[in-house]
Amino acid sequence: MTPEPHPGSTALVPLALVVNGDAVRVAVPAERTLLELLRYDLGLTGSKQGCDKGDCGACTVLLDGEPVLACITLAVDADGRGVETVESLAKGQKLHPVQTAVVNHGAAQCGFCTPGMLMSAKHLLDGSRTPTREDVKQALSGNLCRCTGYTKILDAVEAAAREMAEARGGD
Ligand code: FES
Ligand code: FES
Repeated sequence: MTPEPHPGSTALVPLALVVNGDAVRVAVPAERTLLELLRYDLGLTGSKQGCDKGDCGACTVLLDGEPVLACITLAVDADGRGVETVESLAKGQKLHPVQTAVVNHGAAQCGFCTPGMLMSAKHLLDGSRTPTREDVKQALSGNLCRCTGYTKILDAVEAAAREMAEARGGD
């Protein structure tokens, strides 16, 4: 894949990374953000471009397992690393427990914040088997929602944590 350079760019930088388990080789202008790489070069439009300046969390993805704001992360900083986007959560027709919980709790309205919320929640649930309400609030504190309000979202993540604990046989 060889995207068009931005106006004023002089050279493309070759990158090799793993996105949602797939090896990707791509050449991008040095100023390309990770969000632009995902959405425009790789066609992974689940990560949303909200504020595009690091304020809203809609672009949250995991980089080597840690949440980052893809709109203020350069694509070149993902070279040699692993990226997980919201597209990685469902396995075929089977939703991740936190996706199911969001649906069941009515925790998405326009859905624009949802991919970022889900990735922040996944990071929490990957690392904490029994998060408290406060843990969930902390984990989602960088993700803004303009329409649902936060109660249903927090409820959904807590429910997902319980379901995942039960699936493991209880913790
Ligand atoms: S789009 Fe990245 S923080 Fe808002
Ligand atoms: S559901 Fe619309 S911004 Fe959160």
